[in-house]
Amino acid sequence: MFKSIKLASTVKSAPLVAGIYSDVMTMPSQPRSGAGKSKSRNGNGGLPDAPGFKGELGETFVLSSGDVLLGLGKRDELKLDGLRIAGARLMKRLDRLAAKNANLAISISQGQSAIDSSLAGRALAEGMGLANWRVDFFAGSATNNKAINPPMTIGSADGDFRAGMQRGLALAESTNYARQIAATPPNICNPTWMAAEARRLARSVGLRCKVIDYTQAQSMGMGGITSVGQGSASKPCLIILEHRPPRIAPKAKDVKLGLVGKTITYDTGGYSLKINNTMKGMKYDKSGGMAVLGAMHAAATLKLPVHVVGLLTCAENMVSNNSYRPDDIITMYNGVSVEVTNTDAEGRLVLGDALSYACKDIKPSAIVDLATLTGGIVTALGHFCAGIFCNDDPLLRRLNAAAESSGEKIWRLPLWKDHKEFMRSQHADILNSNASRNAHPIQGAAFLAYFVDDKIPWAHLDIAGVANVDSDKDLFVQGPTGFGVRLLVDLMEGYAQ
Ligand code: BES
Ligand code: ZN
Ligand code: ZN
Repeated sequence: MFKSIKLASTVKSAPLVAGIYSDVMTMPSQPRSGAGKSKSRNGNGGLPDAPGFKGELGETFVLSSGDVLLGLGKRDELKLDGLRIAGARLMKRLDRLAAKNANLAISISQGQSAIDSSLAGRALAEGMGLANWRVDFFAGSATNNKAINPPMTIGSADGDFRAGMQRGLALAESTNYARQIAATPPNICNPTWMAAEARRLARSVGLRCKVIDYTQAQSMGMGGITSVGQGSASKPCLIILEHRPPRIAPKAKDVKLGLVGKTITYDTGGYSLKINNTMKGMKYDKSGGMAVLGAMHAAATLKLPVHVVGLLTCAENMVSNNSYRPDDIITMYNGVSVEVTNTDAEGRLVLGDALSYACKDIKPSAIVDLATLTGGIVTALGHFCAGIFCNDDPLLRRLNAAAESSGEKIWRLPLWKDHKEFMRSQHADILNSNASRNAHPIQGAAFLAYFVDDKIPWAHLDIAGVANVDSDKDLFVQGPTGFGVRLLVDLMEGYAQ
């Protein structure tokens, strides 16, 4: 891992990183800046100095000169996702080489499926920045971690490509910030700690921060947040972060985007206790909130010209003599009464209050919530994408466009009146979980729909399958992915364009 990645137009005497397509096998035409001669075309028969190198996506080869070949796969098949993977693999190779610098020679826009040069630079750098991260903030005296390499400088002569890279590195930084907090364990990161961290972030990047604490939430009638969090020694709270820049894009004049993130710092399940080791990993139950936190970090640091308000519903779902129970009936901030049938369906309870608070007190032009809400979404969609429920086609179009550009994939599921009726209770207005597990992820969304004003465009993203990975992948080491940060940034930017 490198301490940081810097950019320059060219770095003197640095090795070259040459992007090679598997179906062209030509060294790019740029002369290398250091000593040594450039290689010549060799058709599809491979490159003379690189036996065995096929140019497959993400394949790397270090030539005797010290230059690096980076495979990009077939020219017409290269997409942004492929560039992210190539960036990540390149990063790992440069790390092993402990490179101090490198000049990129990657020609993108020649194939039939020409990709915009700046988007290409962004994708490559996102891959590099996301791969240049690990969980080492708890490395102790017995650590096996390799020492961190000093900052590395990457040269790229193409101004558009470089500008894109700048953006990609910034997005990776905001994502890595979200990942860092997501990985912070529950014995440290509890609701009180989260509130302090949000305040610290707000001060350092320039956001407004307000925290509705436990007693205020009680007197405001936020039965969801207070019930879920009451059993923990660290009491629940609602964090509100606001980015209201001096310059708003003309197109975003009437936009006030509300982002809501489930921030359960730990989910034991409560009295409906998680059993058979399903509790392990529940520190990631705050990942929705971390996506919002990372997006707010990006909005402030990149000075995005859009008004955005982020809400984090912080609570720790614990077992204690003071915890809420199955059979409790609670009244939510908007007056809806809920019969608690399962204390493990806690996310929808904290989100319900935050969503109705947003509708009533913040009055956003659109709301997007993100939550590790159900195991059912993982059964339905696996780890390939998040599930999305949306009541508004223009908002859905914007989110689909953001998913396309960020590579953070989403797939729509239905949410109808029938699903809402399914959540009715005999003893209260609604129940938090139906005895039947049918349409499990939709039940979560249907519950949330009771807390959103019909007139406000709203999308709910269930990110339980994508918030963290169990083993090392191209872009992500085992641990949190920061899913949603880049998607939300692209959504915000979409409003400005
Ligand atoms: N935090 C979990 C959802 C979850 C499960 C996230 C697996 C990541 C991986 C959520 O609070 C939960 O426990 N949901 C229950 C809901 C049920 C009790 C209605 C579930 O999914 O089983
Ligand atoms: Zn739960
Ligand atoms: Zn949960």
